[in-house]
Amino acid sequence: MTALQHVKLGTYYVVHLPEADDFDFWRERARALVQCDVPPDRIAWVEPGGSGDLFAHGERRMPVPPMDAKPVRANRRFVSLARNAILHSDPERFALLYRLLWRLQSSPRMMEDKADPDVRRVEELDKNVRRDSHKMHAFVRFRLVESEDEEVGEHYVAWFEPEHHILRANAGFFMRRFSNMRWSILTPRGSLHWDGETMSEGPPAERHDAPGGDPMEDLWRTYYASIFNPARLKIGAMLKEMPKKYWKNMPEASLIPELVAGAQGREAKMVEKGALEFEERPDTLAAIDKAIHACRKCPIGSLDNHAVMGEGPQDAALMIVGEQPGDQEDQIGRPFVGPAGQLLDVHLEKVGIDRRAAYVTNAVKHFKYVQRGKRRLHQNPGAKEIDTCRWWIESERAIVKPKLVLAMGASAARGLLGKTVSISKVRGAPIPLEDGSELWVTAHPSYLLRLEGPAREEQARLFDADLAAVKTRLEELA
Ligand code: URA
Repeated sequence: MTALQHVKLGTYYVVHLPEADDFDFWRERARALVQCDVPPDRIAWVEPGGSGDLFAHGERRMPVPPMDAKPVRANRRFVSLARNAILHSDPERFALLYRLLWRLQSSPRMMEDKADPDVRRVEELDKNVRRDSHKMHAFVRFRLVESEDEEVGEHYVAWFEPEHHILRANAGFFMRRFSNMRWSILTPRGSLHWDGETMSEGPPAERHDAPGGDPMEDLWRTYYASIFNPARLKIGAMLKEMPKKYWKNMPEASLIPELVAGAQGREAKMVEKGALEFEERPDTLAAIDKAIHACRKCPIGSLDNHAVMGEGPQDAALMIVGEQPGDQEDQIGRPFVGPAGQLLDVHLEKVGIDRRAAYVTNAVKHFKYVQRGKRRLHQNPGAKEIDTCRWWIESERAIVKPKLVLAMGASAARGLLGKTVSISKVRGAPIPLEDGSELWVTAHPSYLLRLEGPAREEQARLFDADLAAVKTRLEELA
């Protein structure tokens, strides 16, 4: 009997998902079902703990697609929304995604139809999941647990209650951010444990499994009280950004009522003292430009140099990131105008990327050098300096919102990823970034300048191949 006949007889296919967030499993099953022509209303998708027994009657094993089955169509927009939407806690999400996939086979442009209820729903799920992840990034608070075992040392534990199945998807974020700490994040949906080298998963936890208070909390409270700016207090906006349900896990939240109550008095005092300057992320390129000139977050900014701001269209689809301005860039005040920039221009032109359409910037905003007589010799920025400067590149990305970021060299890659990667290992393929854009990594043009002969030719060929791949990808994303 063919799959189609099963359907006609009213057979249900029941797909049991091994994990609530298992996109790859869902995709594999969905592909096979589409290829066997099984319509959406004949499938029950059951996640762990779901009520699969309801469908036990008439249930069939997965059909096997015929050898000559047509490939399944799914455009990038669908795949990227589906990957996120599958993390939503709505039990209907698998069916919704299958319905979309099914419909995409006959209407390949349907994802562009903003009025379509299925498209609207998947966009809504995607948005909710992003918001939940954003809250997790902002509101997870670790508490120090003293271990009796000296070898174990310090262990930080956080309790968080995500609304959706976002825990595993956000493991990388916390691993990168707290790579040197030993930590656990406990949630009612599962737990993550990082020992400084490996990540492991554990079962769901309960609130009382996590510690309740420790000296770190005083630090958080002090920090929060010091950055709390009464002049900017907007209670509605604050509640929207930091909903009350998260307060119970945040030590600093105990200060909020008091700070709010005292806000007017504090504001008056601050105005008196002229102390209204608090750092918050600049929201225009002009504001970043101004702020980097005053930046002394690391020692490079205190050398005899000038900050060099990125340049290019504010809505550029491509952001090109270098390491730091060189001697000439520092003097002229523009990125990539010296020898490395001239070589870059040659290669960009060769593959047909228009530099004027790209936003060109650097991971580190000031020129780091040592003075040798009259010459200023370039020095590589250290990891700490690059990490400190990430604040600015992240601010630029938040405004320009490029679809694709090209990092040239290891420092640029670290500026984007927060960790060091090997160029030869990561070049040639996209690395997804948290905001949905893609990072591509290639060598730095200065590296080519330092080579000669066949080695230079070989590296130039690889560089061109990377740029050409970026060009193709940009065209796909357009
Ligand atoms: N090298 C870089 O990384 N950036 C510049 O702007 C110039 C040279």
